[in-house]
Amino acid sequence: MKIAFVGKGGSGKTTLTGLFALHATRNDQTVVAVDADINMNLPGALGVSVQHAQFIATPHNAARIYEYLRGSNNRIETTKKFVNTTPPGTGSNIWNIDSNASTPLDSMAVEFGGGRGKLMMVGSYETDHIASGCYHGQLGVLENVLSHTRTGVDSWLVADMVAGTDAFAGTLHAQFDAVFVVVEPTPEGVGVARHYRELAEAANVGRTVNIVGNKIEDGQDLRYLEKEIGVALLGTLPRLAGIKQHRQHGLSLADMQSTDIIALMQRIDARARDCAIAEDDRLGLLYNLHRARLEKPWVKNTYGDLSGQIDPDFSFARAS
Ligand SMILES: Nc1ncnc2c1ncn2[C@@H]1O[C@H](COP(=O)(O)OP(=O)(O)OP(=O)(O)O)[C@@H](O)[C@H]1O
Ligand SMILES: [Mg+2]
Repeated sequence: MKIAFVGKGGSGKTTLTGLFALHATRNDQTVVAVDADINMNLPGALGVSVQHAQFIATPHNAARIYEYLRGSNNRIETTKKFVNTTPPGTGSNIWNIDSNASTPLDSMAVEFGGGRGKLMMVGSYETDHIASGCYHGQLGVLENVLSHTRTGVDSWLVADMVAGTDAFAGTLHAQFDAVFVVVEPTPEGVGVARHYRELAEAANVGRTVNIVGNKIEDGQDLRYLEKEIGVALLGTLPRLAGIKQHRQHGLSLADMQSTDIIALMQRIDARARDCAIAEDDRLGLLYNLHRARLEKPWVKNTYGDLSGQIDPDFSFARAS
């Protein structure tokens, strides 16, 4: 399953991504955790040192990744012809996270959870980016990785997304089986959560979106959220003093295992399995987005006609 935690800044995306990734590794599941935020907090939550970390969006690493993903797929003329929605085709390398094969992607990840987990980081905004680019451009390589990645029934790709609905709404929404919108019981949090739901409905992926209440202090908070969100919450997490204290002491979330946390993690696990989309159906979503993107004049002007990238003979079922 491929899942993402999204929501307003500070709502608890990183905390829930970390808790879920650690929960899954404890249950002998394979996990690729992706820190897709510009301010990388997931390594700390997972207890991972990033001293020797490699960011997938650096020009050098992105080039290695494109070379690998393209494989012998001649429908992608050169590695410079990858756009966010470029789909896999015959000859593409599909990154199977259950496989032990060593790939450039594995070499860029850092282990956690006793070796069952791998943390992948997109990148940060460096001083040399000032006045030259925006972070969201760096998410393109992540989208390509996601569309060329295969997970199994006991393996997870879990993304801690950057705050802001734009990255999700653009094209990333097509990549996940389930998306968990983390929301605090505040009008601002509720507004952002509603917006994610509206965008997902408009993009025909409404069924993938689930709302998780966080930092709930009392019955009043819960009633407020239930009333204002307007749909059933998947679950909630109380404001837990232990989470803040752990982080204040520079500790990971590895030993945070209260009954509240475990119950929520089990719900997230079950819902993600319920929402799982067949790989070839997800590919159909990606084709639609790719076609729409190709109509944009700037894409035509920059890349030429990329419609040949859609391979009618490709299916994930056949690629196995
Ligand atoms: N259930 C909780 N109980 C207590 N503190 C929490 C809880 N969830 C998150 N926090 C704290 O709230 C702060 C924000 O959480 P977190 O970093 O997970 O949010 P985020 O959505 O990832 O933020 P950002 O948008 O900055 O990436 C952190 O200090 C975290 O420790
Ligand atoms: Mg965060």
